[in-house]
Amino acid sequence: METVVSGIRPTGMLHIGNYFGAVRNFIQLQESYPCFFFIADFHSLTTHPTPGDLHGSVKRVLAEYLAAGLDPEKSTLYLQSDVPEVTELYLYLNMNAYLGELERVSSFKEKARSQPDNINAGLLTYPVLMAADILLHKGTRVPVGKDQEQHLEMARTFGNRFNRLYQAEIFPEPQAFSETKELVKVPGLTGAGKMSKSAGEADCIYLADPADSLNKKIMRAKTDSGPAAPGEQPSQAVQNLFDLMHLVCSSEVCAHYRETYNLGTIRYGDMKKQLAEDMERFIAPWREKISDILADDALLARTAALGAEKARASAAATLQEVRSLIGFRKFY
Ligand code: TYM
Repeated sequence: METVVSGIRPTGMLHIGNYFGAVRNFIQLQESYPCFFFIADFHSLTTHPTPGDLHGSVKRVLAEYLAAGLDPEKSTLYLQSDVPEVTELYLYLNMNAYLGELERVSSFKEKARSQPDNINAGLLTYPVLMAADILLHKGTRVPVGKDQEQHLEMARTFGNRFNRLYQAEIFPEPQAFSETKELVKVPGLTGAGKMSKSAGEADCIYLADPADSLNKKIMRAKTDSGPAAPGEQPSQAVQNLFDLMHLVCSSEVCAHYRETYNLGTIRYGDMKKQLAEDMERFIAPWREKISDILADDALLARTAALGAEKARASAAATLQEVRSLIGFRKFY
């Protein structure tokens, strides 16, 4: 049986990278499978140990999950911190996770570079907690963006290792999932790489971005100074704009700009104006929905309570098996 599990860190508003990499798949998968979608609030402490407004960020993601179309009756929507069983499984998995393999994980190396004063153990064991999130519900399908591929490989390693050590087939192998052929990587607007909050506000298009700031950000996106010579490959920044266009513009519009690029007559200002218009059309319906849901504390409370109950029931069943396999027994 397929079980879907995935999560998002509460680091502010969701951006279209989160949407196309993950949430779009959540909405589709909830129609067909048991799904567990959570807000990875424990994970957020690896980079922000003293978050200013953790509750506010969590609330925002919960509201944005609902606004995007997640249905708390169909899937289990919960806060990671509402399910303490995950920390127990994390502890057991940590006993069989080795320093060498954890140090080789690219996201660890990258974070160690970007926050040299805070290379904490949580950062090192980030993939172990992520494996615990997935294995807790015996997840098989994990809708994520391309950047999570290596973490999924680690989750398979830890699950298989546990099975082998305790001679049980308790954990199935989780696979990264995308409804598109390949896992998605949405580029940012600054030309730096994948769209990411850590690349700065100017890099991200948020689901709740107001129209004027959306327009400004896109018009300021990096491009080349003039059209390339016919036949020349687009620079990374220009390719990023084409990639963003493919997400929200019609195929005719994409083909038109591709053609003008090839002819060397493209005007990047026009291209960005078009992208801004289509992006606005794409995100506009969310803006209002998100603010309505954010104001509905009763709905958010109901959603979180229902999710916590369902997630804990699933987690408790797994933990009971895990404890018994390891050899924990009660005296009373
Ligand atoms: P996070 O919070 O960085 O991102 C949430 C989801 O959005 C995807 N994503 C992107 N996809 C395409 N292009 C982008 N520019 C882009 N930026 C973000 C991510 O791939 C992710 O799917 N470690 C995870 C959270 C997590 C998790 C889990 C995920 C914790 N436990 C268990 C799945 C299963 C993370 O930091 O994602």
